[in-house]
Amino acid sequence: MSLNLTYSKIHKIFDPHSKNPVHALNDVSFSIEPGELFCLLGPSGCGKTTLLRATAGLETITSGHILYGDTDMTSIPPFRRNIGMVFQSFALYPHMNIFENVAYGLRVRKMEEKEIRRRVTEVMELVGLTEELKRNPSPTGLSGGQQQRVAIARALVYDPDILLLDEPLANLDAKLRRYMRAEIRRIQKATNITTIFVTHDQEEAMAIGDRLAVLRKGVIEQIGTSDELYTNPSNAFVSNFIGKMNFFNATLVGSHSAKIDTTTVVVDVKPQRSRLNAGLARGSEIFVGARPEQLEIVEEESEQTIAATVQIIQHLGQVVRYEVLLDKAISLTTMEIDMPHYLSNVREQDSVFIRFREGMPFLFNREEQN
Ligand SMILES: Nc1ncnc2c1ncn2[C@@H]1O[C@H](COP(=O)(O)OP(=O)(O)OP(=O)(O)O)[C@@H](O)[C@H]1O
Ligand SMILES: [Mg+2]
Repeated sequence: MSLNLTYSKIHKIFDPHSKNPVHALNDVSFSIEPGELFCLLGPSGCGKTTLLRATAGLETITSGHILYGDTDMTSIPPFRRNIGMVFQSFALYPHMNIFENVAYGLRVRKMEEKEIRRRVTEVMELVGLTEELKRNPSPTGLSGGQQQRVAIARALVYDPDILLLDEPLANLDAKLRRYMRAEIRRIQKATNITTIFVTHDQEEAMAIGDRLAVLRKGVIEQIGTSDELYTNPSNAFVSNFIGKMNFFNATLVGSHSAKIDTTTVVVDVKPQRSRLNAGLARGSEIFVGARPEQLEIVEEESEQTIAATVQIIQHLGQVVRYEVLLDKAISLTTMEIDMPHYLSNVREQDSVFIRFREGMPFLFNREEQN
């Protein structure tokens, strides 16, 4: 039976007494439901691997507690924590056949030969490698996706309470990644093991996770379902990490309105779409944020349009994406606009006008983006 996995006020400081201590985890608190597939997402160096290693007991934490159900695991040694882990570089043993690769952890535990056979056969069936097991080659005789399955089988074979997957798909090509992430979700749901899946790929996290946490510089920025994070991001960083957000330099002119710099365009947002610090003064420099589908290209110039030049047009199937450069912007960041239909009279290098779809944009503090 799966239990809750709870992190309470976790701090991890590497080299605390040196000149340059690294605060890799900073007051991390959250709880994962029994049987949940939980994604940990964040840029390189934000502390994802550190949190997984701390969970497995491979890294001691500076302060805080990790609980499994009501049991405090913080001081339990790694070999007593029943945790399966697939590491960031999932090195299989090249000199052993795949049966022995998977059986290894059971042999270390001195399990009976008959039970080892039973378990390895069962877990290889679960990960879809029954045929390969009959051949039983060394890992070098398998494709990348098959090797990945062996690594997952190896972590699952001793029936762990918790499964930790650290960027398990990083070495696979794009198509296989998409296929394997569905496979991982299938295997996880079949076993119902409480699982943390680490990735820095937002599309992967959104596709695979029941819920996700966005980590930045050791701090949890937001936790929620893909939909909650996409439609209701708590700050500029999360908004641009989960999906694309276009940022317009702007000046705060009312409690929920901003004037886009170098234009006359004033944007009024719904109060619940403002992410500004309370009491921010009028005249402050902020960002107006809009997702590609929250902007549109229009033919007529008006007080609400911004002049731009089309750079690239891409058909993406369901939508057509127009990358445009604002004519008067200081920065050369392109804005992305998704239109539901191809605009037959708009070509690359054409001058166009863009506009915010009513009520859709967000307001963000300017310092928060990076
Ligand atoms: N053993 C260590 N000693 C000192 N600093 C470390 C150690 N391990 C990690 N760090 C630092 O802690 C921070 C978090 O590292 P971590 O490996 O958890 O990042 P990550 O989110 O897994 O990144 P990536 O996506 O690149 O794998 C980084 O700044 C890293 O340099
Ligand atoms: Mg890592």
